[in-house]
Amino acid sequence: MSNNSIPQVSISSGATITVLGLGHIGLPTALGLAELGWQVIGADDDARKVGLIRSGDPIFFEPGLSELLSKHLASGKFQPVEDVEAAVRKASIIFICVGTPQKPNGQADLAQVEAVARVVGRNLNGYKLIVEKSTVPAITAQWLRRTIVRYNGGKPLGTAGDSATGSPSAADLDFDIASNPEFLREGKAVEDFFHPDRIVCGVDSERARKILTDLYSPLGRPIVVTDTSTAELIKHAANAFLSTKISFINMVSDLCEKVGADVTAVTRGIGLDSRIGPQFLDAGIGYGGYCFPKDLRAFIHLAEEHGVNFSLLQEVERVNQRRVDIFIRKVHEALWTLRGKTLGILGLAFKPGTDDIREAVSLKIIQVLLEEGSQLRLYDPQAMAITQTVFPPSTAGITYCSSAYDAAKGAQALLLLTEWEEFRNLDLARVHDLMEVPIIVDGRNLFNPVAVRKAGFEYVSMGRDGSRASSGRTHALKPTA
Ligand code: UGA
Repeated sequence: MSNNSIPQVSISSGATITVLGLGHIGLPTALGLAELGWQVIGADDDARKVGLIRSGDPIFFEPGLSELLSKHLASGKFQPVEDVEAAVRKASIIFICVGTPQKPNGQADLAQVEAVARVVGRNLNGYKLIVEKSTVPAITAQWLRRTIVRYNGGKPLGTAGDSATGSPSAADLDFDIASNPEFLREGKAVEDFFHPDRIVCGVDSERARKILTDLYSPLGRPIVVTDTSTAELIKHAANAFLSTKISFINMVSDLCEKVGADVTAVTRGIGLDSRIGPQFLDAGIGYGGYCFPKDLRAFIHLAEEHGVNFSLLQEVERVNQRRVDIFIRKVHEALWTLRGKTLGILGLAFKPGTDDIREAVSLKIIQVLLEEGSQLRLYDPQAMAITQTVFPPSTAGITYCSSAYDAAKGAQALLLLTEWEEFRNLDLARVHDLMEVPIIVDGRNLFNPVAVRKAGFEYVSMGRDGSRASSGRTHALKPTA
């Protein structure tokens, strides 16, 4: 990230920002703020994680993050620590970036957010702006406020503090809460931090509005100022709407196959309408990752809690869940039986540009194929090590491969599950030579059908094959060398 393109903020006040939680959101946020010129403490109670980050290892793969980390460890603008309480005391602005996993009923589990509020309450030693960045349901800000007040030195509001022990007094209870939801995409988090489409600042006071808008004004991007509950809702609504677009196009894709149409052309045809837009209309095996599935369920749950029947979103989720079956059916249609078949798997991460496999559709597909008795040759440019924590190398039916070509060796089909750029540029003639039967089932519509078929492959993709996929065409086995 060049300093020329990022305006620097004045830090003459010497203010310190503490970012609580150094995961996929916290670390890019902390380093982005450091790049903007702030003095940033990144606090996480996971000492191992902090140790690795301190040594220059960002722990997960995110383009540009490693470079920013080295730069700001060296500049001293970013300081990773495990003492969360001290980090809170030192800060004027606190960004909450802890996890909000889902409970079995789909509701967001806010235990980590509440734990942070307690720590803040116990360590309120002067004015602080506490900013929610984690995705949380509407009215969490109000709970944060109540919890901070409640845990102010363990005393109820209005009880004087003890100057001898250093515990804060009621007069110290001077803080604001803001909701500033993150819209960072994994794989593009650094880019998104500096060039967001918009910045949402949910505030309930003029003081909080000024601090947050001043903080973000150097980015020169549109800032939407709302109250905290509205900002919280904007985040959930954005992720729910994007998921809806994906499930919508996946249904259109299924219909395209029935009538012999091409879903990529439909996407172009509707996406050029500026009211619709082309993004998030790529048909395929469905959405995964840590955000969409979880946030959609939390939003549905929130609506139910408030008596709103948001059945549209329940259908979005059902459509997405069916994508695995639809893809497996395509594999069956291409290969007939799967027991004992060798299948190359290209792509494990839930999307390109990351090594994240949380709720990755690829893992669900792999699980079904293992149950079918297939032999799988797995390859991903970044997510190999992490996938081994789910499917250890000793798992029957699994072989980890060193490249896409290695995964193709002896395979009776290649299944493309993540659209990494390096797969687009594969030498198809070489892949063809390595495979026993040249079939590609492309779950992400990465390849050009004409080029792949010209290279001698039977090619099946999503919503582009018309009646081809079920035509029952067969390929003769290639003669063995
Ligand atoms: C998503 C949002 O895009 C971010 O704005 C938000 O900040 C983030 O969640 C979050 O809440 O933290 P992310 O999960 O990183 O970001 O990834 P996306 O690029 O949104 O992709 C999500 C899933 O949808 C992936 O599995 C991707 O393959 C799938 N997808 C995306 C499609 O199947 N089709 C598309 O057209 C686009």
